[in-house]
Amino acid sequence: MSFPQQRPRRLRRTPALRRLVADTRVTVDDLVAPLFVKEGIAEPEPVPSMPGVVQHTLDTLRKEVDGLTALGVPAVVLFGVPSAKDARGSQADAPGGIVQEALRCLRDDVGDAVVLVADTCLDEFTDHGHCGVLTSGGEVDNDATLERYASIAVAQAAAGADVVAPSGMMDGQVAAIRSGLDAAGFVDTVILAYSAKYASALYGPFRDAAECAPRSGDRRSYQMATDRVREAVAETALDVDEGADIVMVKPALAYLDVIAEVRAAFDVPVAAYHVSGEYSMIKAATANGWIDGEAVALEHLMAIKRAGADFILTYLAREVAEGLAR
Ligand code: PBG
Repeated sequence: MSFPQQRPRRLRRTPALRRLVADTRVTVDDLVAPLFVKEGIAEPEPVPSMPGVVQHTLDTLRKEVDGLTALGVPAVVLFGVPSAKDARGSQADAPGGIVQEALRCLRDDVGDAVVLVADTCLDEFTDHGHCGVLTSGGEVDNDATLERYASIAVAQAAAGADVVAPSGMMDGQVAAIRSGLDAAGFVDTVILAYSAKYASALYGPFRDAAECAPRSGDRRSYQMATDRVREAVAETALDVDEGADIVMVKPALAYLDVIAEVRAAFDVPVAAYHVSGEYSMIKAATANGWIDGEAVALEHLMAIKRAGADFILTYLAREVAEGLAR
């Protein structure tokens, strides 16, 4: 009988050995918590398709961010649900708009202890639910939308956002926002660009949480087609060229190949968004007793890190941070 010469199991023998040789880690520093804040409600409202996620009041939002800060979560990203919507999404850049109000409160509460990211888009604020303003023919008007985005970014920066995150996939959005911010004196405001954002069915639960499902049509004329991978690098190159400080791939788990390609092609930090549907699938299977939800959550985040993401936007942020602190 011959004995194996190569013994990879040597390094798997004890927990300490396994810990020592790990090449990928998920830590609290990798986590960004997406949070919803809704105007005009007195109590937080649960989002049925996202167990554990709520639409916050200003008050409960502040408590949630305090809790995340105590856990060491370095950043949150805010989504607003306004009480009034119109065709141009006026509340998105109104100084009294819900996101601006939330930013001012949080800036006051946490100082620089947490990075405040504002999603810069129109779909939560328009009555038609699209990410831009529409032409008379009902199409999303790219260039008219750019002016809206620049104005929204400036309003968010003025209210205290450290980072603006354009998610609408309009051509030229990063350049328009950068020049708007610079002209208003916000030269230090960071742009986290949703660079490779695919038209995904995995956003379904988010559209309940943010009340932003398009009234008609879909987002395929602006978000990327799932059957194209080379375009992800091209789209990201445009954003980097236009001044994106950080780029993002979205969704995450179903697009690990895209994360790896973007990581290999660029030296700016790469974020990944583990989206609502990815979260809800874990919660549904866990509720049925079919999987160990905590273990699967960590395995998902580990895969996203392994693929090359520097940090992850995830609705799991709080529970994973709590788990890591135990
Ligand atoms: C658009 C936006 C969406 C998400 C983040 N920003 C929805 C969409 O593109 O339809 C989805 C995030 C998720 O599913 O968790 N402002």
